Amino acid sequence: MATKLLIKNIKTLVQVREELTEKVCGKDMAVLPCIDNAWLAIDNGLIADYGSMDDFPGITDWKGLEVIDAADRIVLPCYVDSHTHIVYAGNREGEFVDRINGLSYEEIANRGGGINNSAQLLRNTSEDDLFEQSLIRFNEIIKLGTGALEIKSGYGLNVDAELKILRVIKRLKELNIIPVKATFLGAHAIPPEFKGNKEGYIDLIINDMLPAIAKEQLADYIDVFCENGYFSADDTERILMAGKKHGLIPKVHAEQLSHSNGIQTSVKCGAISVDHLEYCNDADIEALLKSKTMPTILPGAVFFLSLPYPPVRKMIDAGLPVAFASDYNPGSSPSGNMSFMMSLGCIQYKLTPEEVINASTINSAYAMDMSSKVGSITRGKLANIILTKKINSYGFIPYSFSNNHIESVIINGLVF
Ligand code: NIG
Ligand code: FE
Repeated sequence: MATKLLIKNIKTLVQVREELTEKVCGKDMAVLPCIDNAWLAIDNGLIADYGSMDDFPGITDWKGLEVIDAADRIVLPCYVDSHTHIVYAGNREGEFVDRINGLSYEEIANRGGGINNSAQLLRNTSEDDLFEQSLIRFNEIIKLGTGALEIKSGYGLNVDAELKILRVIKRLKELNIIPVKATFLGAHAIPPEFKGNKEGYIDLIINDMLPAIAKEQLADYIDVFCENGYFSADDTERILMAGKKHGLIPKVHAEQLSHSNGIQTSVKCGAISVDHLEYCNDADIEALLKSKTMPTILPGAVFFLSLPYPPVRKMIDAGLPVAFASDYNPGSSPSGNMSFMMSLGCIQYKLTPEEVINASTINSAYAMDMSSKVGSITRGKLANIILTKKINSYGFIPYSFSNNHIESVIINGLVF
């Protein structure tokens, strides 16, 4: 197993950042630093060095060095997917057909479907089975170029089942393939046994779930689905503040199906990201500009549920950073293909290829507090990279939508 890898004759080395960059905002999102005709050296799973083939390195120590000739292919840092729900049981294909036949997402949820349908399935699935089902998706998205991942709970909705999901996330993390961050999303929906007693369920989250999760150190973040019919802005604040007491940093689902004051609440609670944002208004943009919260767009959910487009162009033009994530889940985005998310960003929100690549790498890394480790080609960062097939430019990836332009994915310096 080679610990040293040299990739030569790279047509374009994309997203090269000399300095550690936390995130890119506004007009800077249109700038994507690249080196044409480049080489990249990897040592011990980390990016050791890079440069132009005009200054090809004089290598003194060839022992254990593997050389890959990129033969005019493009290299990018792996995508960072900062919002997923890949630990779930079964699927919701039946509801997909219900929606084709005219029912709305809300109508399906009101009939006991939706998130509660997934919770019912998950409660009846063993931890090992859940792990096996989730591992298939985990491997699948790495092959599609994802090199760091956030995963949420939220399909358990009782103490045992939420712990079961978080333990599965821990097992995925402990595979030590790509970095994984865990988010506790007990406040994803009100389970049937608490119907008409939302307060009772919030008490369960705060008094029972949170202490158990903190005791086993199972989560990095706390999330709430802030939405009409789910959790109000006041509920959200209460739950986030309780999570913070246990050391969990807020990340919020907000303004997806209606305007629910989730962005303002997220900013107030110091959330690291606020996600969805279809109903984000001008006052929300102002609040985000004064904050450190990363606005995160989930193009797959917008597409799958035919939701109104979030005002992404307006947000970037106002000077905000924007991150992209897949929201991979059985109900609103059954895909974790970040290349496709970028196509949707270009086609539906009129972002440029440079903007969607920044949104899907460095800015998404910020949304899970990993921009010092992944999200760009920078010396010392993890060597999690994508080697494309023979394509003319990085813009071809979002342009030629839904085709797979990835030839191989290298994780920690090894071909995955
Ligand atoms: O991010 N919006 C809330 N949660 C998920 C959807 C969950 C589901 O339908 O299963 C989302 O879109
Ligand atoms: Fe989500």
